[in-house]
Amino acid sequence: MLEVIKKRRSVRAYKPKSVEEGKIKEILKAAMFSPSSWGTRAWEFVIVKDPKTRKALSEATPYSSFVKDAPVIIVVCYDTETGRKFKEDSSICAAHIHLEAVNQGLASCFVQIADADGPHGNAEAYVKELLGIPQNYRVQCLLPIGYAASELPEHSDSEYDESKIHYERFNQ
Ligand SMILES: Cc1cc2nc3c(=O)[nH]c(=O)nc-3n(C[C@H](O)[C@H](O)[C@H](O)COP(=O)(O)O)c2cc1C
Repeated sequence: MLEVIKKRRSVRAYKPKSVEEGKIKEILKAAMFSPSSWGTRAWEFVIVKDPKTRKALSEATPYSSFVKDAPVIIVVCYDTETGRKFKEDSSICAAHIHLEAVNQGLASCFVQIADADGPHGNAEAYVKELLGIPQNYRVQCLLPIGYAASELPEHSDSEYDESKIHYERFNQ
């Protein structure tokens, strides 16, 4: 498990190579095996492959431009009528997606949409309008998925920082 966790990096450049359907299915399974508050499983996913839509999504925020280059973008949505903890549930779900993508030999990057602004105004309103997402849904993030154009270094054991750990009480 730690092997995959260390390999996971925020990859922002992808090969044009398409992603196998079977791999996307495994990634979506990982998403749907996430924990959720009260077991509500209120997530929904929009899978975007159309180049025009990918380009439009890449304009959502100042930090999303590269998503157009990923062959697949998973948009993590959340039904606020059935779910209770939008940010927590959908972020954990995104982490599962990110890690299973690495496990499948793919790469991704969490691209913030909730509470973000961009050239078209509020990024979440822009993405909802673009994808026809109903009013009662929120959008947490975009997860571009593809084969990394180049390898980033893995996380290393040197990032483990004992000073961040407190036993029994917080020590200053
Ligand atoms: C909540 C959250 C929002 C993020 N938003 C963006 C984003 O909008 N665009 C982007 O390129 N990276 C985004 N990132 C990726 C971070 O920049 C990245 O995780 C961080 O620099 C650490 O690098 P690593 O993921 O390769 O370990 C986001 C990450 C998190 C957890």
